[in-house]
Amino acid sequence: MAAGAAVRAWMLVLCLWGAVTGDQNITARIGKPLVLNCKGAPKKPPQQLEWKLNTGRTEAWKVLSPQGDPWDSVARVLPNGSLLLPAVGIQDEGTFRCRATSRSGKETKSNYRVRVYQIPGKPEIVDPASELMPGVPNKVGTCVSEGGYPAGTLSWHLDGKTLTPDGKGVSMKEETKRHPETGLFTLHSELMVTPTRGGALHPTFSCSFTPGLPRRRALHTAPIQLRVWNTVPLEEVQLVVEPEGGAVALGGTVTLTCEAPAQPPPQIHWIKDGRPLPLPPGPVLLLPEVGPEDQGTYSCVATHPSHGPQESGAVSISLIETGEEGTTAGSVEGPGLETLALSLGILGGLGTVALLIGVIMWHQRRQRRGQERKVPENQEEEEEERAELNQPEEPEAAESSTGGP
Ligand SMILES: *[C@@H]1O[C@H](CO)[C@@H](O)[C@H](O)[C@H]1NC(C)=O
Ligand SMILES: *[C@@H]1O[C@H](CO)[C@@H](O)[C@H](O)[C@H]1NC(C)=O
Repeated sequence: MAAGAAVRAWMLVLCLWGAVTGDQNITARIGKPLVLNCKGAPKKPPQQLEWKLNTGRTEAWKVLSPQGDPWDSVARVLPNGSLLLPAVGIQDEGTFRCRATSRSGKETKSNYRVRVYQIPGKPEIVDPASELMPGVPNKVGTCVSEGGYPAGTLSWHLDGKTLTPDGKGVSMKEETKRHPETGLFTLHSELMVTPTRGGALHPTFSCSFTPGLPRRRALHTAPIQLRVWNTVPLEEVQLVVEPEGGAVALGGTVTLTCEAPAQPPPQIHWIKDGRPLPLPPGPVLLLPEVGPEDQGTYSCVATHPSHGPQESGAVSISLIETGEEGTTAGSVEGPGLETLALSLGILGGLGTVALLIGVIMWHQRRQRRGQERKVPENQEEEEEERAELNQPEEPEAAESSTGGP
């Protein structure tokens, strides 16, 4: 692969430079072939050279020569005198030395220190939080890097700046595991932060893996943006009861409302006679069809993650004493009043009619008296007038006239 080719090219550069200094550090990717050159050796046999290696696979120095057999599939000396490791493993870390004598009899030593590496997968943030609460420690997420060698380190960044555990607002819980067969590392880093009140409301977190070997590139997770609750402190928890006073007739409804204004909204639990009610949390407690068992003292408790629980004052719910008798009496009283009003109305109407009749009768009598007292010659004229006025009431008029003085 391209990376492997780059490593080999870089190794070659180091090897050429090593011809001057005499020893180098070599890094090789796990599973890839590694070629170490024996400096000063003739390019073709016959050669006078010897490879010596001390690695995780050897108990002491292992000697390899061009004439000797290859060491299983681990290493062999190539025709040009270089040492080939077809697939480097963690156990191949160690020291490699070659001593060669040129055709002219000059002795050259090569000394390598080999380290191997594996690039882990891209780190990831698992179980990320979405919201953070100011004033209390919050878990942001766990950064995971899998399959790297050597272990390397994970670091967290907030808005591009590296976070360091300070024992107060920032803490990290780290764990390093090693695969029993491959020997590769899995790193976990759990980040806890305590956002300050009034701080940034949309912080961006990211995590990066720094390899354990120099000159290797760091790997970064995708950033995660979280929301910090802009908390409004919990002032006072108030319990409002409807109907006011908490006295209710049997079968009536009582509504208890717990007023605990805070951001984010606190969790509300209910307490009756000192014992928590087994209800899901909620700000409203509705008691429909109140019975004797509902009587008692109620209060609510608001729990806010950054303030702790806070209890309201107590309210007592009681049944109105009159009970069913009271309601019956009431229902009778209502229609009674109506009847009274109706009778009064009828009486009033009758009274008005009676009054009207009275007034008319009185008027007629006055008229008659006037006729009698007045000039008798005009009697016929007056009679006609009277007939016109009181035509429908003629029998009454007749009666009154008979009864008149
Ligand atoms: C090789 O690595 C060792 C530490 O592992 C260091 O002390 C030394 O200076 C390095 N040599 C070269 C040539 O970089
Ligand atoms: C020896 O041969 C190998 C494989 O053919 C090659 O990678 C290496 O560079 C050679 N070494 C020298 C010193 O030419």
